Amino acid sequence: GAASKGDYRHFMLKEIHEQPAVIAATLEGRLGAEGVLVNGFGSEAQALFPQVRQVHIVACGTSYHAGLVARYWLERYAGLPTQVEVASEYRYRRVVVPENTLFVTLSQSGETADTLAALRFAKDNGYLASLAICNVPGSSLVRESDLTLLTQAGPEIGVASTKAFTTQLTALLLLTLALQRVQGGEAPAGLIEALRGLPEAVTRVLALDDEIESFAEAFAEKHHALFLGRGAHYPIALEGALKLKEISYIHAEAYPAGELKHGPLALVDSEMPVISVAPNDELLDKLKSNLQEVRARGGELFVFADESVALEAGEGVRVLRLPAVHEALAPILYTLPLQLLSYHVAVLKGTDVDQPRNLAKSVTVE
Ligand code: G6P
Repeated sequence: GAASKGDYRHFMLKEIHEQPAVIAATLEGRLGAEGVLVNGFGSEAQALFPQVRQVHIVACGTSYHAGLVARYWLERYAGLPTQVEVASEYRYRRVVVPENTLFVTLSQSGETADTLAALRFAKDNGYLASLAICNVPGSSLVRESDLTLLTQAGPEIGVASTKAFTTQLTALLLLTLALQRVQGGEAPAGLIEALRGLPEAVTRVLALDDEIESFAEAFAEKHHALFLGRGAHYPIALEGALKLKEISYIHAEAYPAGELKHGPLALVDSEMPVISVAPNDELLDKLKSNLQEVRARGGELFVFADESVALEAGEGVRVLRLPAVHEALAPILYTLPLQLLSYHVAVLKGTDVDQPRNLAKSVTVE
């Protein structure tokens, strides 16, 4: 049943391995021959979406990181100015809402107190409509929003969110393409096909688990780690750092790689492993020079890169190759090795993986 670990040692590992199936379920029935089906967002979406001129996204924790990725997608593919904010900040400041702004909340549980309060606050703030992307049907967030897109992750037991995050990303890509479509745009070449193939691509990345596990030993004795990414992979670096903090209690920070020289480089030495997410996108050359800066200071590097990237492993540089994928899907794919890495580090450290100290699955009080 849903609440059993089956053959897995922890719920988190089970949930990581469920990702191909739950991503497929989140896509199910939402892609037509011509692209994303707009009515999947609710019967009013067909009338509301063409009016959207801006998007405000509000969420907490891992869900917030999904929102940060969506900003890159919405601006790049749908041309919609997008703001993303943590709910606990959003709800206590004066927010200026331009006309025709769509308010989007992201939540696994649909019961996070700050996110719910932000939605209630937004109701009086002149938004065009509210949309909840949520994993729990019938949750407070779903009941109180105008539109809903349910992620189909199923029950998530591990406190550290995994499958809820990648299904949120999948849903946010659907949202991007739906908004683009109703505004007369065309989906980027090959993306709809690539989306259909996403569950299979995820399966291929999960098959790299032994290699990822072999990286974990280098972290178990460390006290700090630095995650680097650029563009839409900066939020993936943030999520990787959050996972490591949550379950292995190793202090981890994430930086957009271009900011390295503005501070964190001072911390880099042989005691500071650096994890870098380096798919083959337009920022790769820049990222490569950031990586040289880390090597020059004795930092041990762990690079997750596209199979086509010319980047050699060597002394102090370990490289894990991921299958090539449509650039829009790369943030989803590159999440997986970071989840698995944190998981294996936590197992080595012997922490309570599914119920890390001091944390709750759902924070329903402020
Ligand atoms: C808690 C959980 C996180 C989660 C966050 C937001 O902090 O431990 O895993 O990302 O709440 O939860 P939500 O249910 O709103 O996505």
